[in-house]
Amino acid sequence: MFLELLRQRRSIRKFTNTPLTNTQLSVLQEAVLRAPSSRSRDPWQFIFVTDRQKRQALSQAKPHGAGFLAEAAVAVIVCADPRCCDVWIEDCSIAAFILQLTAQDLGLGSCWAQIRCREHDDTTDAESYVRRVAGIPEHLRIDAIIGIGEADEEKEGHPEDELRQERIHWQSYRSDT
Ligand SMILES: Cc1cc2nc3c(=O)[nH]c(=O)nc-3n(C[C@H](O)[C@H](O)[C@H](O)COP(=O)(O)O)c2cc1C
Repeated sequence: MFLELLRQRRSIRKFTNTPLTNTQLSVLQEAVLRAPSSRSRDPWQFIFVTDRQKRQALSQAKPHGAGFLAEAAVAVIVCADPRCCDVWIEDCSIAAFILQLTAQDLGLGSCWAQIRCREHDDTTDAESYVRRVAGIPEHLRIDAIIGIGEADEEKEGHPEDELRQERIHWQSYRSDT
């Protein structure tokens, strides 16, 4: 049952140094290309980075919260052409999360590194930095980088009694009928 996958889902930021197999990589590639997109514009581009030095550089994209990309077997940069679709952020985010769920289904761990709206340092934003590291042209915007690899940490799924049931509303906001 798909819900079981969600019950176990957690962000994983520690990875063994086992590389992914070609089969795992091709499953991940097929999965993202099956992501839905608004008006089927498919504005996204996915850059699979396995090269250790490049991953190390990507892990410096922002001062905090991207360090795990250095250890992940693959860092997938999810970017898009906004001229192609006004809701490119939604399109990218759906594809990025499909990537994460597919990784989990393969028995792998993953975590999202937010790039859009984040700063690299006082003078450079994280998008410009990643663009430079990965040779991404100016017209593409970068939403996130997903780090994927064999998990080197164990995390329990969130317990059911911690779910924020109050965030579910019926018929109208706050109404409980
Ligand atoms: C849009 C988005 C941006 C995120 N950005 C980062 C990030 O930059 N670095 C990071 O370590 N985790 C990031 N995360 C992972 C969240 O921190 C994580 O999902 C949250 O703490 C809940 O933990 P869980 O995924 O284990 O349930 C992001 C998640 C989402 C959905």
